[in-house]
Amino acid sequence: MKTMQINQISINEEFPINKWINYLNNAAYCPVPRKVLQKNASYLQEYSEMGPDSGFVKLDEYVEEARYAASALINCNPEEIVFTESITHGINLIAEGYKFSQKGNIILRESSKDHVANFLPWLKRSKENNVKIKVTGSNDEGDIDLDRLEIYMRNNPSGILSVSHALYNIGTILDVETIAEIAHKHNFRIFVDAGQTVGCLPVDVKKLNCDFMAFSGYKWLCSPPGIGVLYIKKEIQKEVNYFGMDVRSLESEKEGVRVILKFTDKDYSLKDGPKRFEAGFRNYTGAVGLLEAIRFITNYGIENVRSRNILLTSRARQSLSDVTGIEFYGPEEGNRRTSIISFNIRNVKPSELVAYLLEKNCVMAAREIGSLGIVRISPHYYNTEEQIDQCISFIKEFINEKE
Ligand SMILES: Cc1ncc(COP(=O)(O)O)c(C=O)c1O
Repeated sequence: MKTMQINQISINEEFPINKWINYLNNAAYCPVPRKVLQKNASYLQEYSEMGPDSGFVKLDEYVEEARYAASALINCNPEEIVFTESITHGINLIAEGYKFSQKGNIILRESSKDHVANFLPWLKRSKENNVKIKVTGSNDEGDIDLDRLEIYMRNNPSGILSVSHALYNIGTILDVETIAEIAHKHNFRIFVDAGQTVGCLPVDVKKLNCDFMAFSGYKWLCSPPGIGVLYIKKEIQKEVNYFGMDVRSLESEKEGVRVILKFTDKDYSLKDGPKRFEAGFRNYTGAVGLLEAIRFITNYGIENVRSRNILLTSRARQSLSDVTGIEFYGPEEGNRRTSIISFNIRNVKPSELVAYLLEKNCVMAAREIGSLGIVRISPHYYNTEEQIDQCISFIKEFINEKE
């Protein structure tokens, strides 16, 4: 662990947002650290002054460097990293493109638990094709009944099971490893929506043993918006139909600086690997930002991010626990949840409380568990203890004013 070498104050100062706002809504989007901002600004300047397509400025090279960095982050091969616009985009690519066998099954957790982005694309696919959808139940903390899951899979073998690694509303971390073991036994592929974990805690696709994974740069990794990642295990890339066509997807050879594409008026030859799925990808600025964001956060250390986030959330939860009428949702133990704390206070409307806090420059989120409104606090490693204390004192002030 690098904890001893970290100067937490300088990290807090790296995030310009800390000067203006107590931002505790990182589970939505995270702000960008100064170093990443500077890298993006200098890249765009270079692009404008020396490029764009002059050969003096890196374009695809940055995309490949970012691909390498993303693969190192989740422990896979760069050839397994597909760039997308968002988590939703990645889920849609697989939900639309997966080649189910004749009797395909999709298994999901109920829509009140999983993010709707990990529900609707699958629901759509199940309407359009001969694919059956099954919604599993889960307990209050979002854990799936594994015995029932296994019985269902045994009776309906083959398909895709898609789950969030951690729940967006109550932060529970799911035991993906065990679920993947059951899924693979019954010929299911497992898709993991890691939108709420990558950048927040260590994520290793080999350890989780998943087949697909989607996450974004702009949540916990703190990259600029507009870039996401889809992991597709190499051995199963052919099980997914690619969308669209792009010159970058074709086999090619180089003749000096000229690229000769392998296609005729009648046929074409596609490259293997991620480029098949990246038709038209030109988000060079996003790739530069993502690369720098991954470097920045891994320099701090993802394990250290995790420890700091447990510390900040435990402080918030502890300090809220004496509020009369408060009810928390999700696991109490820090190691079973991410950096999310969700709660309600008797006779307090979540949206009213969140609006009041916003007037005090404290940003939290009004979210939901099914039809139940909740307040969600989600600090990240650059937040300070003082920010937590200040926001919670405003919550207490709101309640006092109401009484
Ligand atoms: C777990 C999870 N999945 C998917 C999404 C959708 O993300 P995006 O809109 O960036 O695609 C979110 C957004 O909050 C999320 O928390």
